[in-house]
Formats: sequence, structure tokens, C-alpha cells
Amino acid sequence: MDPLPEKIVCIGAGYVGGPTMAVIAERCPTVEVTVLDQDAVRIAAWNSGHLPVFEPGLAEIVGRARGRNLRFVEQQAGLAALAEADVVFISVQTPTKTEGEGAGKASDLRYVEACARFIAEHARGHTIVVEKSTMPVRAAERIQQVLASNRTGATFTVLSNPEFLAEGTAIRDLLQPDRVLIGGEDAAAVATLQALYAAWVPSERILTTGLWSAELSKLAANAFLAQRVSSINSLSALCERTGAEIAEVSAVVGTDSRIGPKFLKASVGFGGSCFRKDLLSLVYLCEHHGLPEVAAYWQQVVDLNEWQKSRFAAEVAAAAKNRRIAVLGLAFKKDTNDFRESAALQVVRSLLRSGCEVLAYDPQVDGARFISELGISAGFTAVSTARQALAGAGAVAVLTEWDEFRTLTWGEAALAPGATVVDGRGIVDRAAVRQAGRGLRVIGSPPA
Ligand code: NAD
Ligand code: UDX
Repeated sequence: MDPLPEKIVCIGAGYVGGPTMAVIAERCPTVEVTVLDQDAVRIAAWNSGHLPVFEPGLAEIVGRARGRNLRFVEQQAGLAALAEADVVFISVQTPTKTEGEGAGKASDLRYVEACARFIAEHARGHTIVVEKSTMPVRAAERIQQVLASNRTGATFTVLSNPEFLAEGTAIRDLLQPDRVLIGGEDAAAVATLQALYAAWVPSERILTTGLWSAELSKLAANAFLAQRVSSINSLSALCERTGAEIAEVSAVVGTDSRIGPKFLKASVGFGGSCFRKDLLSLVYLCEHHGLPEVAAYWQQVVDLNEWQKSRFAAEVAAAAKNRRIAVLGLAFKKDTNDFRESAALQVVRSLLRSGCEVLAYDPQVDGARFISELGISAGFTAVSTARQALAGAGAVAVLTEWDEFRTLTWGEAALAPGATVVDGRGIVDRAAVRQAGRGLRVIGSPPA
């Protein structure tokens, strides 16, 4: 087995960079891990008792490694670490472009390119540069070009090592990954990265491919997962019209070993920072390479998801007995404080625009940050318990599958007379809602 690298740096202390480096540092105590970010507030939070990312198990792992071989450092204070690093991970955001060529679809690589310029300027000797961010296929070419323009005589190898963790289960996914993927043509560099992961990942789970296959595999995996959600959500609408029950259909379909049971849960629509932007990136790549039929195929997965979110919002507005709506859950899934692309953003916006007042509760999402992303504050109030949100509400929209929403005591909720619970996750205790005399609509279930 090749020796472990001695020093690694990660640029980007976000939902991927922070947890991934914390796990590497914990599992490889001899490796010095430095995480850089240009956002000084985020770095201060990583060094505090209140981490910027909520993930089950993360605080414990950071607690064990931070100050030993794990450091979170503001970008400009990390130049020496960068100069000495054997391996530099780029783990910054790659959002959908909002202007210029490909706006609305293509991934915006400006953050990645800024990292490449920064590395080109400050790295010394030979450095392995690892794409941890999700990239369009052949993006490594662009990074190689930027790195090659350095004037310091430093040399570089670029590898692709996309991350497959899901938020809410990031630590489990990192500790016991289905696979780690390393793409690249430089066998020595690939072996160095393999050695790092082999500290805790069984070797048969460390897959190696060419660079372009690794880049595309990440987009492909997310596209397949999102496609399953859109497939089941499309059928949820048909269930509501026909009397079939989506949970039963999912269970039956999922018992086919060729299909499998995961990612067949009907919902208010998928959210998160990855699915939509990675699908759009794939659509753009297909269009760019002259494959309009393939582009249209994947675009439909996004379009169906938009439709699911808007039809849910309309259902909530129609069910409301007064203009006051309780929203339970702002995060895009349970066990995270992340609300990027959350269905809650679209549903709440639509409710506020139609003149409703929204009282929202989420156990982890910061209400002030949610309001600033929402862009509208009139009519929206974030409260600190579910009970406060429910008081006086004419309808309840359940948007996130937090465990505590499964066991709400509906009999004690001070809802308005005639109020209806609209469950976008299929998790509420149906018998308890009905016993409390409330109306109930569940995504993928026919009206009772
Ligand atoms: P994030 O927005 O949480 O974090 C990115 C961080 O990079 C931010 O803190 C930002 O300040 C920092 N940054 C940006 N440009 C910088 C620069 N030039 N120098 C220093 N710091 C800089 O993003 P994320 O959710 O961690 O995602 C990162 C990448 O990983 C994306 O490409 C994403 O698609 C991919 N990914 C995300 C997930 C996920 O679940 N969030 C999972 C797999 C892959
Ligand atoms: C996803 C991929 O799962 C992960 O491998 C990749 O690295 C990043 O993108 P993430 O977005 O964090 O992870 O969460 P995920 O569990 O995939 O859920 C995405 C969205 O789909 C959530 O809004 C979730 O609620 C929704 N979903 C998921 C469903 O609606 N139904 C399902 O059956 C599964």
C-alpha cells in the first residue's frame, strides 16, 4: 500500500468540505488536515461550539479531531498550509449559472476556477488537486489549464473524486460509503488518494475510472436518484385520482430486487442543493453535445418536480379554512439545517403571494436565514415550536419528514375549526388527525 499523504488542504468548508475533512482527519490521525474558506464567519463557526452544519454525529467527530490534526482556517491565513500540501481538495459550490452562456442550466464554475488560480499561485513542488465538487464532464481540462498557467514552476495532477454523501446521513455515508470513486490517469496520484481512503474504506469499495467517467458518474448517479423520486411523485398524482395508495404501490414495486426499495417515497418534491442543479447541468451538457432528445428526457425529471411542488401549494391554499397556514418543516429533508431548493421555499412563497399568513416551524433551520432567502417577509413568521405554528391555523402543510411530526398530538393542537392537515410526506398519524376531527389530505392517497 502506498504511504499516506502527510498534509492535505481542502478549499471550501461547506456541507461537503467540513464533514468530509472531519472524517478523514479522524480516521487518519497522522495526516494534517487544513480546511480553508474565504468566509470568515463560517470558519469561526467551525471553530466554535455551534457548527455551521447540522449533521447527526458531526459535532462528536469534529470534537475529537479539531486541534489535533484538523484545523479550520480563513483562506488568507492558510497560504503556508497550501504551499506544503501534498493533496488539495476543491470543495466549493458549483451552482447553476444565473447569467452568460448556459444561464439557468450550466454549472457556474467561477468558484472552482478561483480556487484553481489560488492553488496555481500558492502551491509549491508537485501537488495533487482533487475535484471534490460536482463538475460537468471534462471540467478537469479547464482546471488543468488554469494550473498550468502558474509562474512558480509548481506541477500538478488533477483527479476527480466526487462526493456521494447525502445530507442528514453524511457521517454514516462517509464512514461506510457504498463506494469511493477516484478518476484519473496518473497512477501514482490515484494510489496516493486510494491510500488515504483505505485507512477505513474496504479496498473493493474504492473504484477507479478515467477522469471523464468519474465526472459523469456523479451527475448520472444524482440524475438516477432524482428520476426515481419524480417517477414515484408522478404516480402519486394518479393514485389520488384513482383510489390507489402510493405507499402500497411503492412497497410492491420496491420488492422487485431489480428495482429495490429505496428512493420510492412520494413527497412534496425533491429539494436540496444537488438534484436540480445536477440535472440541469446534465441537460445543458446534452444540448451542448447535440443530443436534444437526451436533454429533453432529463429535463422532464426537473419539470415533474416543479409541477409536484406547485400542485401541493395549490392544494394547501384550497384546503385552508382561513388565511392562516401552519408550515411544519423548512429543511429539504430531515436531520439537516439546509433549506437550499427546499420545497418549503416554493410552497411558502406561493402561499404568501396568494395573501396567506404563514407560521412556520423547523427544529433546525434558522428562521432569519430562511426569510432572507425567501425574499418576502410580510406575512411570514418563524416560531420555535410546532404547537405555536398550529395555533389558529386553517390548514397545516407538512413539508419535511422530521420524526417529531410523526408523533404530534393532534388532539391538543389548537387549530381553527374545520382545519385540514395536508401531508406532503405521508408521515402523520392519520388516525390521530381524524380522531381530533381534522380534515386530512396525504400526498399520493385518495381523498378520504
Ligand atoms: P457549500 O455552499 O455548503 O460550501 C462551499 C464553501 O466554499 C462555502 O463555505 C464558500 O464560502 C466556499 N468558497 C467558495 N469559493 C471559495 C474560494 N474561492 N475560496 C475559498 N472558499 C470558497 O457547498 P456544498 O454543499 O459543500 O457543495 C460543494 C460541492 O459539493 C458542490 O459542487 C456540490 O454539488 C457538491 N456536493 C454537495 C453535496 C451536498 O449534499 N451538499 C453532496 C455531494 C456533492
Ligand atoms: C443527494 C444524493 O442522495 C447524494 O448521493 C449526493 O451526494 C447529493 O445529493 P441529498 O440531496 O443530500 O443527497 O439528499 P437525498 O437524500 O438524496 O434527498 C434529496 C431530496 O429528495 C430530498 O428533498 C428528499 O426529501 C427527496 N426524496 C428522497 C424524496 O422525496 N423521496 C425519496 O424517496 C428520497
